[in-house]
Amino acid sequence: MTLVHFLNAKLLKSVDYPVSTGKEAVLFRATAPDGSFLAVKVYKYETSAFHHMIDYIEGDPRFRGVKRKIRSLVQAWARKEYANLIKARRGRVRVPKAVAHRQNVVVMAFEGVDGVPYALLKDVVLSDAKRVYRLLVGNMTRLYKLGLVHGDLSEYNVLIDSAEKPIIIDVGQAVLFDHPRAKEFLKKDCTNIARYFAGLGVKTSFEDVYEKVTGVAV
Ligand SMILES: Nc1ncnc2c1ncn2[C@@H]1O[C@H](COP(=O)(O)OP(=O)(O)O)[C@@H](O)[C@H]1O
Ligand SMILES: [Mg+2]
Repeated sequence: MTLVHFLNAKLLKSVDYPVSTGKEAVLFRATAPDGSFLAVKVYKYETSAFHHMIDYIEGDPRFRGVKRKIRSLVQAWARKEYANLIKARRGRVRVPKAVAHRQNVVVMAFEGVDGVPYALLKDVVLSDAKRVYRLLVGNMTRLYKLGLVHGDLSEYNVLIDSAEKPIIIDVGQAVLFDHPRAKEFLKKDCTNIARYFAGLGVKTSFEDVYEKVTGVAV
C-alpha cells in the first residue's frame, strides 16, 4: 500500500527488484520518474520474533490491540532510520541521502553504479585499507559529535563506493548518547571496526578507535 502510494505520488516510477532480504527489512532498488535509482527499505511487520509472539498472545484479551501496536513499533523504527539519516548527513557523516518516509518504508538515495549497489566492506578487497579505516573512523567521530551511536556498525553495514570511500548504512537502530546502553553499543562498534581492520593489517585496536572517536581514553 505504501509503495503504491509512492508510485501514485510519482516519487517512484517502478520498484525494480529486491537487493537484499534481511530479518527485519527488504531493500529494493527502485527507479524515480527521472530515471535515477532509489533505494526503498521496507520494514517487515511480521518479523520472525513478532510472528512467534503473536501466536501466543492473539485472542488473549489482555493483549488486545497488540497487532496495531506492533505495526506502530515497526513504523517508529522506519521513522527513526529516516531521522537518523537526516541528522547524520547534516553532520557530514557519509550516509545515503534520505528522500522520503511513510509508515514502514524509508526511501533513500541508491548507492551504486549503473544501478548495481556498491559492495559491502566485508566483500571488497581494498587497495588502501589504512585510508578506508581513517575515513571510516572520521565518519564515526562525526556521528559521535552529533550524539549518535550506530549500534550495529561492522563490515556488514558499510558500503565501499567507486572511489574506495566508505558509506555507513542501516542506521535504524542508532541511538542517542543518553540511551542507557549507548556506551556499550559504542564499544561494540569500535571493537568491530578495530577487529576488521586489524585483520587487514592496519595497526589498530579497540582502544585506538574508541579514543579517536570520543577524544578520551577508554
Ligand atoms: N542506499 C543503498 N543503496 C544501495 N544498496 C543499499 C542501500 N542501503 C542498503 N543497501 C543494501 O541492502 C542491504 C540491506 O540494507 P540494510 O540497511 O543493511 O538492512 P538490513 O537491516 O537488512 O541489514 C545492504 O547490505 C546493502 O547491500
Ligand atoms: Mg544491514
